[in-house]
Amino acid sequence: MQALILAGGQGTRLRPLTLTVAKPVVPILDRPHLVYMAEWLRQFGVEEIILACGHMSAGIKSIAGDGTSLGVRLRYVEEPEARGTGGAIKEAEALLEDRFLVLNGDILCDLDLAPQIEHHERTGASATIGVIEVEDPSAFGVVVADDEGAVEAFVEKPKRKDAPSKLVNAGVYVLEKSVLDGIPAEQNVSIEREVFPALVGKGLHALEIHGRWIDIGTPDRYLEAHWDLLEGRMKGGPDPSDAEDGVTLGFDCKVDGEVEGPAWLDDEVEVAAGAKLGPRVSIGAGTTVAKGAEVSDSVLLAGVKVANGAKINGAIIARGATIGKGAVVGPDAVIGEGATVAPGTVLEPGARIAPELEEDQ
Ligand code: GTP
Repeated sequence: MQALILAGGQGTRLRPLTLTVAKPVVPILDRPHLVYMAEWLRQFGVEEIILACGHMSAGIKSIAGDGTSLGVRLRYVEEPEARGTGGAIKEAEALLEDRFLVLNGDILCDLDLAPQIEHHERTGASATIGVIEVEDPSAFGVVVADDEGAVEAFVEKPKRKDAPSKLVNAGVYVLEKSVLDGIPAEQNVSIEREVFPALVGKGLHALEIHGRWIDIGTPDRYLEAHWDLLEGRMKGGPDPSDAEDGVTLGFDCKVDGEVEGPAWLDDEVEVAAGAKLGPRVSIGAGTTVAKGAEVSDSVLLAGVKVANGAKINGAIIARGATIGKGAVVGPDAVIGEGATVAPGTVLEPGARIAPELEEDQ
């Protein structure tokens, strides 16, 4: 089966992380997000993934290539300008088979898609939307369907008290190619707001699917996705048998300080004596944490330098950033690639620090 991943968004909410790394390959426990997507989709017989991208496709290609390392065939469709979620699928028309999956590119999940695919085939639907139950649907598109699954209406971001149900669009669709006949070429079209509403009463179905699901598109949910994997709430995380007291170490780590699990350290991480990591940290390869520094509830990507006595809590630190001596970072801070937080700086909660890249990057 083919799957098309919508991967052409701007990722504005995850900036500045997504200013230098495209969301589909943003690292989660130091592996590109796409690795998790491919592993998940392969379980449902997906052998080919089409990435519908625009923004920063070169960066995605340099990491994911032809998909060999992901165990799938990977092909790319690049939009000359953002076409929206429906227009992007139309742009890929020449590559698509008669029936295929469409996924939002910013979800991390272990949803079971088999019932959705089966429902789609059994009902002869033109499109079947996977819906999931959420506690608070007010940030999502609520889907209203009858007992057979035929969609009757959409309610976009309802007030919590007015929501007709808690079942929301999970960004996981099974589509017949014929749906593309109704999408104009070379135009910006939204599948959620334009294509699906026009298909109500014309073979549009929805089915509740089950499993853990998280949209990694905001800093707090990006962090949460790490803890879901690390604490075993989502399949696809590190093997607990490789961890000791909840701490998983990569190769050639040098840990003289204290690490409290759950924690995940990639290869060649150095934690000096007197430093304290955890609980809840994901530390990228080659990152160094100096004495007296403390890091908790945070994701540090590869090659970050944390100087003496710095304190980091609830933050995302992009690749190669430096946190100066005694600096305080977090909560909710996002530090861009290669940026430096000067010694002694106390950042406001929610601070965003722009990337500082070398000239030739
Ligand atoms: P924000 O800017 O933070 O809202 O992020 P986003 O635009 O990446 O995400 P949004 O939730 O708006 O989009 C849902 C999914 O559709 C994401 O996986 C996006 O990458 C993707 N997407 C949104 N617009 C486009 C588009 O014009 N083209 C393509 N190919 N994908 C898109």
